Amino acid sequence: MDCLRSLLFFLPLLHLAAIQTYTSPPGSPGQQAAFVPSGEFHPWRLPSGPQAWKDVLERMKAAGFNAASVYHHWGVTEPKQGSLNFDYYRSHSDFYEAAKEVGIFVMAKPGLYINAETTAGGFPGWTTNLAAKARTNATEWTNAWTPYLTAAAKAVAPFQYSSGPIITVQAENEFVVTSSSNPGRSEAMVLAENTLRNNDITKVPITHNDPGTNGRFASGLGMVDWYMWDGYPNGFQCSNTELWGEAAGESKEEALIRGEGSNYASGVVYQNLYMTFGGINWGNFAELTVYTSYDYVAPIKEDRTLMPKYSEIKLQSHFSHTSPDILVSTSSTAGTTFTNNTNVYTTLLTGAPSGSNLYVVRQTTNKNTSPVTFNLNIDTTQGALTIP
Ligand SMILES: *[C@@H]1O[C@H](CO)[C@@H](O)[C@H](O)[C@H]1NC(C)=O
Ligand SMILES: *[C@@H]1O[C@H](CO)[C@@H](O)[C@H](O)[C@H]1NC(C)=O
Repeated sequence: MDCLRSLLFFLPLLHLAAIQTYTSPPGSPGQQAAFVPSGEFHPWRLPSGPQAWKDVLERMKAAGFNAASVYHHWGVTEPKQGSLNFDYYRSHSDFYEAAKEVGIFVMAKPGLYINAETTAGGFPGWTTNLAAKARTNATEWTNAWTPYLTAAAKAVAPFQYSSGPIITVQAENEFVVTSSSNPGRSEAMVLAENTLRNNDITKVPITHNDPGTNGRFASGLGMVDWYMWDGYPNGFQCSNTELWGEAAGESKEEALIRGEGSNYASGVVYQNLYMTFGGINWGNFAELTVYTSYDYVAPIKEDRTLMPKYSEIKLQSHFSHTSPDILVSTSSTAGTTFTNNTNVYTTLLTGAPSGSNLYVVRQTTNKNTSPVTFNLNIDTTQGALTIP
């Protein structure tokens, strides 16, 4: 499954320069680090087009998101083999242009496979008539996708950072490496990466999104520049939206926010909230596990009104922007002894050159749904302090 995940990315420790401008994508080795709170948004699920896209992107930016992660849909673009159509809501470059005007980074994910709980995972219907096995290096399959991925790469190329907003390009999504039961997979990954590189995707990192922390394409044949993976806060299941793991019974907004607390505590630098704007499964977009709305308690609702989670996300995003030490800090100790309440679990992040300590505080278990009162004991440059 693919839904409601956060796309996570660890960086090695980076030095934090004083400059405020980037010369390559945030997080690149040797460059200024930046926390990238990204939000997932699928333009084709908002078919009203660029004006509506800009409205959503403005709302995301106002919440402190500095990037949008975007799946494009091959099946939308090439409903008939050989007939590529990038007009209007199908356009990739109109979306990149909208993001450029708004001033928000883009993590571009043109497919080929996107999952995204959409029919055939985004593959055009006609691909199911091909004799070749999908997602392998079989010649017929390669020939089927090459025109689309080539066109998608050409759409990305002029918008690569720093000429445009695109900071990463995904070569494949939720893919497996070659094994005896899955021949030709890593080889297909290499073909996709070469198609991107040969069409001028040379300035930004190529990524893979692993459905879990399996290390797929983090090394070996088909290795990507930046490895990313999915995490599912509170065991959320796309097809059973009332079930939230041990958080069952509490509000969905709270459950999601807890999940993010753990990401900060473990040093994640890129974090993508899936979904941030979910939109609509119009036409035959929905695969059978999901419903017409693709909201998944997104902070920005299908009709673009703001949900309660929006305010909490805004607080977290703005903290990450104003406290860059979070980028260069790592977990040192954790437990329930930082406060006077054993229902509160604290992780201390240390290691920033400034000497600052960061404390990530959350409920010990998601079963606790009532407010808790506690004192937090912290170490400061001025000595020990108890808050409040
Ligand atoms: C697919 O990859 C395998 C393993 O490298 C190779 O033997 C085979 O020839 C490749 N197929 C094509 C069509 O290139
Ligand atoms: C912890 O300290 C707070 C603030 O002084 C107090 O209100 C609370 O009762 C204390 N909790 C426990 C479990 O001692």
